[in-house]
Amino acid sequence: MTVAPSLRPLGNALGTEAVGVDLARDVDDATIAWIERAFAEHPVLVFRDQQLDAAALAAFGARFGRPQPHILEQYRHPDEPMVSYITNVAKDGGIDRFGVKRASSWHTDETYEEALPRLAILHAVEMPATKGGTIFADMRAAYDALPAATKQRLDGLIALHGHTNGPDAVKLYGAAYVRKSETARPVRRHPAVRRHPVTGRAVLFVNPTHTHGFAGMDEAAGLRLIEELRDHATQEQFTYYHSWRVGDVLMWDEVATMHRSAGDARADERRIMLRTIVHPN
Ligand SMILES: [Fe+2]
Repeated sequence: MTVAPSLRPLGNALGTEAVGVDLARDVDDATIAWIERAFAEHPVLVFRDQQLDAAALAAFGARFGRPQPHILEQYRHPDEPMVSYITNVAKDGGIDRFGVKRASSWHTDETYEEALPRLAILHAVEMPATKGGTIFADMRAAYDALPAATKQRLDGLIALHGHTNGPDAVKLYGAAYVRKSETARPVRRHPAVRRHPVTGRAVLFVNPTHTHGFAGMDEAAGLRLIEELRDHATQEQFTYYHSWRVGDVLMWDEVATMHRSAGDARADERRIMLRTIVHPN
């Protein structure tokens, strides 16, 4: 007899372990339906002690929508284009010392694109001995807790998104790099508050890496608002630090959450993960 899977909280705000699922074996329709129900409530869902190759990870992702190839070919897995390598190990085996800082500003993936992803999945292959975690923020709870006046201000507001021209990306990458990366890139417009497509809940959809302003608002006021919303949403009561173990499969909701690499591991330790980003069908 198979035992039904169960849920166990990992953090106070979000972060939930799904116990009793072997993703290499029991991904039948009933299990997927169970995961979908759990995921609607728990937007950071962790499966421990898994062992998936790139093809199996892409196949698992495909149960929830359409996995997409990484924009940059150099990051794609050689056998499975729908899976990318997140690694600080260079081709010659050396460590990319900037790797520890990459993606360490708060963001939601790919909001510089018109078509937004539904969810992403990371699978830990090699991790530093300590630290090197990923931090998630619950943008549903963050929205609910905003003062009424801020909610009113955000109502109907359109946010402007670029690749790395949000205030926190400028700090992380430097103004010169940002100018180069934004050349000829279209500005994307997304509502500052989105309705979650599955649950219908209101979600704060502004992130300080890609959002660099709001339609009809002057630049300085826009930057102040982005920073104010970041400071609000990243308070401890809305966040969860995930300490990775090799074998973790972690799926997160790309509408309901924002995340960042903690950037706190030693720069010379290897960190390798497989990732797939899934768009809605
Ligand atoms: Fe990311």
